[in-house]
Amino acid sequence: MEKIALGVCSSISIYKACEMIRIFQDKKFQVQVILTQNASRMISPLLFSALSGHKVLVDPFQEEASDTIAHVALAKEISLFCVAPATANIIGKLASGVADDFLSTLYMAVECPVLIAPAMNEAMYLHRQTQQNIHKLKAFGVKFVEPEKGYLACRDEGWGRLAAPEKIVEAGIKLMKKSRSLKGKTVIVTAGPTQESLDPVRFLTNSSSGKMGYELAEEALRRGAEVILISGPTHIFPPRKAAVKKVQTAREMEKEILKHFANSDIVIMAAAVSDLRFAESTPHKIKKETLSEKIEIVPTQDILQKLGRKKEGRILVGFSAETENVVENAQKKMRKKNLDLIVANNVLDEGIGFGSDFNQVSLISPGGKIVHSERKSKLEISQMILDKVEDIVGKKS
Ligand SMILES: Cc1cc2nc3c(=O)[nH]c(=O)nc-3n(C[C@H](O)[C@H](O)[C@H](O)COP(=O)(O)O)c2cc1C
Repeated sequence: MEKIALGVCSSISIYKACEMIRIFQDKKFQVQVILTQNASRMISPLLFSALSGHKVLVDPFQEEASDTIAHVALAKEISLFCVAPATANIIGKLASGVADDFLSTLYMAVECPVLIAPAMNEAMYLHRQTQQNIHKLKAFGVKFVEPEKGYLACRDEGWGRLAAPEKIVEAGIKLMKKSRSLKGKTVIVTAGPTQESLDPVRFLTNSSSGKMGYELAEEALRRGAEVILISGPTHIFPPRKAAVKKVQTAREMEKEILKHFANSDIVIMAAAVSDLRFAESTPHKIKKETLSEKIEIVPTQDILQKLGRKKEGRILVGFSAETENVVENAQKKMRKKNLDLIVANNVLDEGIGFGSDFNQVSLISPGGKIVHSERKSKLEISQMILDKVEDIVGKKS
């Protein structure tokens, strides 16, 4: 029987957690309840132990938790960590990495999907601090079931009422399903710029930060894929579970892709590979006085086109950074390079694309279908792209 962890905080809606245990059990899940210390003062842990059939966990130093390092052991066993009801306090703690009780320590240890259902008074929910904490957690890939508007325990009317238990359980099950949607698939993601050296201190590059590719790698991992992240120089901390291959030049990137191409199912080319390189590159710094007036620059190999020719059953996704006629130019590129999907954006639009945390893209399919996104975080754009990739996988199989 699959196991989930239910983190319960000291909200007035704590009693609804009992119903959630029942619903998860009806759907054939084992439920391990974790209470915050304050929650255990509101309702006796005994009730939750009796309902769930497992000793409730509150303190990582308590006896029940001491046979193994319980938060680490539990993190490996569960398919979902659902925190419901979640107080303003726990949301703040999780957003800032505080791990001082079982619930918050478990959060730091899990790699399964995390679902949070907040419940609080409207002023607390809409407080900028709470909203900022929620935003921060969403950027880490945590999912939320938003609270509802209605009559609150504080006798106010407003936002903050815990979503219905059925709705929370349903969102949890959907999330678990999503976490396996690319299971068995190997995804190559390229990210970042390339640097084409003239000598050890001078090179040609572009302003790609690598954020889009790294978000795609994280999201593919969250969906259960094996991920090979081939990255040009970036300052981003790579996802722990990806096989990360660091490269510098377009040539090195091509070599690394080709090494893994045969074993891949999906290739997402989010890197901004330099189109140009110096004809010659020297191992020693060229003295200023001896820099020739003319330095020859030549085109780099078109990796995407090469992959398009040999892709066979693989799904190949390209990006198209345009400054004019965005859709038309991207469509031409998609046909020329035999892609299954192209993600186009206008790099002249301010506040999106290169270096930004946001993007606004058009997803263009060979059949002519175009989906235009709003300006969204790169995490949300990566989810849109992988949803589309999953559609293509579904149609091909
Ligand atoms: C009766 C009562 C009801 C409460 N309800 C809520 C609530 O619904 N949401 C919330 O964020 N805090 C609520 N609080 C405040 C939290 O219990 C308080 O911030 C506590 O420190 C949170 O601890 P925990 O997050 O470790 O459970 C309530 C407090 C009391 C005494």
